[in-house]
Amino acid sequence: MSAVAVNPTRPSAPLRDTGWWRHAAIYQVYPRSFADGNGDGVGDLAGVRASLPYLQELGVDAIWLTPWYASPLVDGGYDVADYRSIHPDLGTLDDAEALISEARQAGIRTIIDLVPNHVSSTHPWFAEALAAEPGSAARSRFWFRPGRGEDGSLRPTAWISDFRGETWTRTRNPDGRPGEWYLHLFTPGQPDLNWGHPDVRAEHEAVLRFWFDRGVAGVRIDSAVLLAKDPELPELSSTPEPGRHPYVDRDDVHDIYRSWRALADSYTEPKVLVGEVWLPEPARFAAYLRSDELHMAFNFDFMARPWAAAALRESIEVTLTAHRPVGAPPTWVLSNHDVTRPVTRYGREETSFAFATKRFGVASDLDLGRRRARAAALLTAALPGVLYLYQGDELGLPEVELPPEVITDPMHFRSGGVDPGRDGCRVPLPWTANGSSFGFAPDGVRAWLPQPRDWGRCSVEAQAGDPSSMLSLYRAALALRRSEPALAGTDFAWLDAGPDVLAFRRGSSDAGEIECLVNLGEEPVPIPPGHRVLLASHTVTDNKVEPDGAVWLRPITAEPITGETE
Ligand code: GLC
Repeated sequence: MSAVAVNPTRPSAPLRDTGWWRHAAIYQVYPRSFADGNGDGVGDLAGVRASLPYLQELGVDAIWLTPWYASPLVDGGYDVADYRSIHPDLGTLDDAEALISEARQAGIRTIIDLVPNHVSSTHPWFAEALAAEPGSAARSRFWFRPGRGEDGSLRPTAWISDFRGETWTRTRNPDGRPGEWYLHLFTPGQPDLNWGHPDVRAEHEAVLRFWFDRGVAGVRIDSAVLLAKDPELPELSSTPEPGRHPYVDRDDVHDIYRSWRALADSYTEPKVLVGEVWLPEPARFAAYLRSDELHMAFNFDFMARPWAAAALRESIEVTLTAHRPVGAPPTWVLSNHDVTRPVTRYGREETSFAFATKRFGVASDLDLGRRRARAAALLTAALPGVLYLYQGDELGLPEVELPPEVITDPMHFRSGGVDPGRDGCRVPLPWTANGSSFGFAPDGVRAWLPQPRDWGRCSVEAQAGDPSSMLSLYRAALALRRSEPALAGTDFAWLDAGPDVLAFRRGSSDAGEIECLVNLGEEPVPIPPGHRVLLASHTVTDNKVEPDGAVWLRPITAEPITGETE
């Protein structure tokens, strides 16, 4: 792969800003599906390196790559066999180092995924544990337990996996007889680590240093609320007290993040910790963001809400209120590699997201979904805090309904084939309008997951020169977000524009102001006088925001829209 043509004239000042993460736009790369540099049909680090100019032009401050480590890929790489080596499909450690440094030259920081809750069942520690005796030191790095019942054939607990089904698998002793059980909150290929064991803590700190020393700007922490477990492994009571659940959001998990924060802060340019924190209770969520813990966590509450003004307004309000006391920036996330793409979701009758209700064959009006996803892009990019963008959302890709025979995701299998799983949002990106893989891989090569026949219509090539495309909208929004001081700070005030409209002002009279209006009603809404349209999710005619549309406005008089509500 040839050297990358990055734009050397781009200002590098932001790279010296240690608070960069507070208002960053962070782009999630799913490396197997981003761009294939070596022509085997699987995306790789060479492909990401070659696409840095694209990311630079899009205007993102950082990339977060889902796990790139050696792995048997039982769960898309979230089953790590070696935290210090790169999966050979993706490249080598040299490629990873080159990517980190080339991205940096392009003004883009690199965040990697750390998977601390579990390892792959092919990890040397687990092999060692299986070969060792019950009660041995090697087994105590995991959760091995005898079964219940006379012959030990009953699982130690009845805990149910987030991936459905059981959380325990029975081992065989060297003599072939059934032995102890081990805990896996996800698949049997992902045994849970015992975070009470000093080796587990020491190893992860060493892994963090390994990557921090290689220049990564931070880590996204997988399944961040699951690490600490009650060593008694009790059955689940129907109403566990906050912080006392056997394995979710236990109070003692915070200890781990305090020590990681100290490590992250020990670098001249402090590293950033991002948590995957799925918790319904805002105060419990915000506790992870105290000033000596994580820098930020994904705001899944907002992501899962339906496309409805009251629901979104409430989520924004709850989010801002929860973050204020801990001083951490909120994050705004429309999707990721685990959830249904926004264009498809927002075009459905039920527009909220829940893992449990995923099914094949749910109808979606993609034109409607696309209009709403465009409005959602402007809404999220205008809110204070950090914007996360999942690869392909800038192209408005829909979820792909794949035929069951090509699906690789364990969520599909473990649901008995009812849940289509998560591969539908992981289909390789279309870069060109035509070709065997729409430019994802060299011509003549097919992508590892089948791409829809009309994928080229959504390609970068088809959209780059079209001012009305989703890609152009994202580029314009990210450019304004970067250049407008009003969008960088924390100033935020709701404006009253009626129950169906989300309207707020960013900035101050000193720093300049921008107002954002999102119309979730069924009638067009007039743009108030004294405002100039900076950016709109649709063509503005008659000075109106269309239903499912959004605009960014610059007030050109001192008059607010209709007076603040708070
Ligand atoms: C996280 C990841 C998901 C993975 C799971 C188990 O939720 O985002 O993709 O399957 O953890 O590691």
